[in-house]
Amino acid sequence: MTVLKVLQAATAHLKKHDIENPRLNAEHLLAHVLGRNRIELYLDFERKLTETELGPLRELVKRRSEGEPLQHLLGTVEFCGLTFLCDKRAMVPRPETEELVEFLKSEIQDSKSQIVDVGTGSGVIALSLAAEFPEARILAVDVSDDALALAQENAARLNLSDRVQFLKSRLLENVEGIFDLIVANLPYISTGDRRTLSREVLHDPEVSLFAGTRGDELVRELIDQALSRLRPAGTLALEIGLGQSEALLSALAEKNYRDICSKNDYNGVTRFLFARYG
Ligand SMILES: C[S@@+](CC[C@H](N)C(=O)[O-])C[C@H]1O[C@@H](n2cnc3c(N)ncnc32)[C@H](O)[C@@H]1O
Repeated sequence: MTVLKVLQAATAHLKKHDIENPRLNAEHLLAHVLGRNRIELYLDFERKLTETELGPLRELVKRRSEGEPLQHLLGTVEFCGLTFLCDKRAMVPRPETEELVEFLKSEIQDSKSQIVDVGTGSGVIALSLAAEFPEARILAVDVSDDALALAQENAARLNLSDRVQFLKSRLLENVEGIFDLIVANLPYISTGDRRTLSREVLHDPEVSLFAGTRGDELVRELIDQALSRLRPAGTLALEIGLGQSEALLSALAEKNYRDICSKNDYNGVTRFLFARYG
């Protein structure tokens, strides 16, 4: 079969199994198997594929049709222009979080800022900021050993190991010092919403998804803890879940944070909260 025919057949199979963007998924998987980029496929539509190439592709298409995330099958994900390893040890980074990081990059004034990323997962926030601000002092914490191991592998691959420290900690419990910026994309899904999640999302580790029966429990706890960990006028930057902004904005006001504001993501959902303290 030619590249074009294989793409058409894989697309049809993925579509039948309700995979969003089936053609794009098929292109990524075929490009991965051939060790090419997607655009190169378009230059080679008539090339005939060998059985050695088709075997692994069939396997990947089958796994994708069963709901395994594309990023797990590819083993990597692009985030803020960098390539990160991605596997079941940590949450697949989301485009919303990229928006948060791009916003922070444009807002951070002091290139020597002291920053802590709480719940670093694969390390995407901490490492993207480290790449942008070589003089910043960055700490990345997570409660999960698996996530920390993946984040450290990413740091090594990106040559950023000497710029980011990693620490196992429940929120800021084991963290010392004070910070100019505390950023967190913590779990914010309520345990009751489990059945509303897609097959793909359910491949993320439980510890990266669920916070409690409300969903905002960990974010609230961090709002409390951050009070004593921010330098005067330091910033707390939070990614939050759908419908959580009003209650969390009130929580920030009750704790006397100032310059409190929210920001929508590209889908129009109020997804990010920012506040200063002191
Ligand atoms: C939503 S994921 C975000 C991962 C990464 N920051 C990102 O944006 O892709 C939340 C992360 O918080 C970690 N986590 C969960 N509970 C935590 C806690 N109590 N203290 C610290 N980290 C926690 C999870 O292990 C997970 O890696």
